[in-house]
Amino acid sequence: MNAPHLHTYSTPQAGSAAVAAELRAMVARQPQAVVGLPTGGTPQALYAEMVRLAREEAVDWTSLVGFNLDEYWPIDAAHPASFRTFMRQQLVEPAGCDAARFHIPSGEVQRSEIEAHLGEYQQAIRQAGGLQLQLLGIGLNGHIGFNEPGSAADSEARLVELAAVTRERARDQFGGSPVPTHGITLGIADILRAQRIIVMAFGAEKSSVVHSAIEGEVSDACPASLLRHHANVTWVLDTPAASELSLMS
Ligand code: F6R
Repeated sequence: MNAPHLHTYSTPQAGSAAVAAELRAMVARQPQAVVGLPTGGTPQALYAEMVRLAREEAVDWTSLVGFNLDEYWPIDAAHPASFRTFMRQQLVEPAGCDAARFHIPSGEVQRSEIEAHLGEYQQAIRQAGGLQLQLLGIGLNGHIGFNEPGSAADSEARLVELAAVTRERARDQFGGSPVPTHGITLGIADILRAQRIIVMAFGAEKSSVVHSAIEGEVSDACPASLLRHHANVTWVLDTPAASELSLMS
């Protein structure tokens, strides 16, 4: 098993700015860099900083290629709580990214088409040369993407049933209408194929799961612990999220 790199910052903004600076350096070297992306509360400060860099420092993200991890299923692309809407509003449009280079699994496909759709999605990642960097958040139950507890290290892109805690956390975004029971997600195996992985976790509510993922048993009970199968993982934490680690950096 591999020990991850741990970087702890005083605020989520400081950690997010460090990740944004890495992305900026990546596109400076290679404008069409290929990055895997999460949605949720965690990356919001990162995406806001990428928008600021585009507007105030003329950073050009137009050639950046993005592949999102997951989407609710079923869901209309235009639904206000879809991850497609989130990406368009938080990053793609305000940062001046090229929407045609930003990919996200479709929550609109029929059940019978999901396997083929996700196979094509994996193929598109391979054709782009694979993920150079996978960015991740972590769920309170240790999920990464929609890989809920019980997801195996060799799991591939697939349809999954969402955990109760995951649906509960999403309730506000759905404003009273029911949260989908399922999602489609890249698997743990897809995530582990990335050349490099950065996991972001901010806030005291994540301290326990961060501890389990980094210092607990490597087990599918905490899917993020399976990242220790990868040799190049960096955790970007704020001080509260790192507070239960015995080896604080
Ligand atoms: C969403 C995703 C999820 C989130 C996780 C944390 O695309 O991949 O695994 O990263 O649920 O969510 P937040 O950041 O809202 O705490």
